[in-house]
Amino acid sequence: MEALKRCKVAVVGSFVTDLVVHVPRRPRAGESLMGTSFAIYLGGKGINQAVAAARLRAIAHMIGRVGNDQFGESFLRAMEEEGVNGEFVVIDQEEGTGIGMPVIDDEGSNSIIFIPRANTKVSVQDVERARAVIEDADVLTVQLELPVEASHAAARIAKDAGRTVVLNCAPYHPIGDDFLRLVDYLIPNEVEAEQLFGISKEKEDLLDSAKARSLVKETGCKAIVVTVGEEGSILMDAKGVRQIPAPSVQAVDTVGAGDAFVGAFCVAVGSGMEIAKAVELANAAGALSVTRHGAMPSMPGRDELIDFLMRTGKMKDRTRE
Ligand code: RIB
Repeated sequence: MEALKRCKVAVVGSFVTDLVVHVPRRPRAGESLMGTSFAIYLGGKGINQAVAAARLRAIAHMIGRVGNDQFGESFLRAMEEEGVNGEFVVIDQEEGTGIGMPVIDDEGSNSIIFIPRANTKVSVQDVERARAVIEDADVLTVQLELPVEASHAAARIAKDAGRTVVLNCAPYHPIGDDFLRLVDYLIPNEVEAEQLFGISKEKEDLLDSAKARSLVKETGCKAIVVTVGEEGSILMDAKGVRQIPAPSVQAVDTVGAGDAFVGAFCVAVGSGMEIAKAVELANAAGALSVTRHGAMPSMPGRDELIDFLMRTGKMKDRTRE
């Protein structure tokens, strides 16, 4: 595996405080169910991906909005501690910081209720103010927890500057062809892939080579990478489709695994890594993140990721880092 370089990653995305409950199973409608634990973690797809990149020693810039409240303060402190540049993070005076309510069952799988609050105020003007940072980044990553016009504007700036654009289309929101045409790498999970393209979650459908090639052609993306949880990822590009397995681990909390994947993928691609290798590295980052609790706190560090890749036989020679 090639070296991870100190590339520049810009993230236009969300801040969400996760109020996490653990339950043996999800409650049925009308049922009161005793949970087993509660914790508050910093999260939100945007900042999770920025921290994931920064922990792999990328130069990470975050663009978004927090509220003028204690959750917002925690994010500003965390960005300083994590070395994420927050020069273009606005403290919104009207809306509070975004809130997420992940419900995690005994298998470690999750469902999340998301209340965007200040994230809904991220505007095209906010993005324009950060133009220089976006133009200067090797890779821009955007998700869909913000008004879609803001993510779209960021993608347009990056594309016009000849930068690589990653769209993690989560949570699902319809996206127009004009936005899609700006995207180099599209990363949905299997549910979002079904919502976006109508590809069923069945493996035969996801691994249908002719379908994959025509989807890649239709979208104009260099590749579509569908994350499929513990089974790794499905890489679709002009050559066809292949499944790239993830290392197997004991999951305790899967919240943020997709963000660990996307953050690591951006750093790998920004380092010039070949696409299948970038997906392999991103799979490993996602796998490591599910072995501990919380979203943002679970993002792996660079040394830890390299050790893990060596242990699982995916990286042979540390000196080539
Ligand atoms: O991708 C995981 C994140 O999505 C969580 O941190 C939660 O806040 C939701 O926004």
